[in-house]
Amino acid sequence: MARSRSTQLLRHAGEKLAHLGHRYRKLNVRDLPAQALLHVQFDDPALRDALAQVAEAEAVVVATPVFKAAYSGVLKSFLDLLPQDGLAGKLVLPLATGGSQSHMLALDYALRPVLSALSAKHVLPSIYATDAQVQWDGDNGILLDLAIAARIDEGVERLSASLIALREVSDALFEPVPFSQVRCSV
Ligand SMILES: Cc1cc2nc3c(=O)[nH]c(=O)nc-3n(C[C@H](O)[C@H](O)[C@H](O)COP(=O)(O)O)c2cc1C
Repeated sequence: MARSRSTQLLRHAGEKLAHLGHRYRKLNVRDLPAQALLHVQFDDPALRDALAQVAEAEAVVVATPVFKAAYSGVLKSFLDLLPQDGLAGKLVLPLATGGSQSHMLALDYALRPVLSALSAKHVLPSIYATDAQVQWDGDNGILLDLAIAARIDEGVERLSASLIALREVSDALFEPVPFSQVRCSV
């Protein structure tokens, strides 16, 4: 697998979420079949699976490299395939890595409007790291700058708290009804 700082940042956030008791699944849009992605072949099994994965999620942590002052084209190709309300009811935490500080607002001016257009329930504050803040440590691991590590901790904790709060609200809305109280009328 190609070394990718943004993927490693995502993995780091996933591990933090797991540590807080959440289950997560990985989805690497760079690994999806390009032909199916670019030709919008909804019958492709890998694509179908990836779209179902998003549909089933309560929250989506999305990570991208900054390419030409915006998020990556492959991410856009994938987002283009989601239904118009494909993020409805979901929390989204955007992450990005970029070569310099110059494009640190790329997530906010480029990606956030798309996530909102897809009806995301709430897009949490974005987290941007420069390459200098995400150093390679050996073959696969990363060493994070302390400030970035703290921002990820904070972002993931906020996401976790929001998820738990949302579950409590939906539990309150849909309290189980004992069978003895069920009445049917025709
Ligand atoms: C084709 C290309 C375009 C890039 N454009 C930008 C850019 O406009 N601004 C920036 O800050 N970094 C830019 N970079 C640097 C990457 O965003 C940065 O190295 C990032 O961490 C790569 O993430 P990845 O390892 O997950 O692919 C570019 C890199 C490539 C390969």
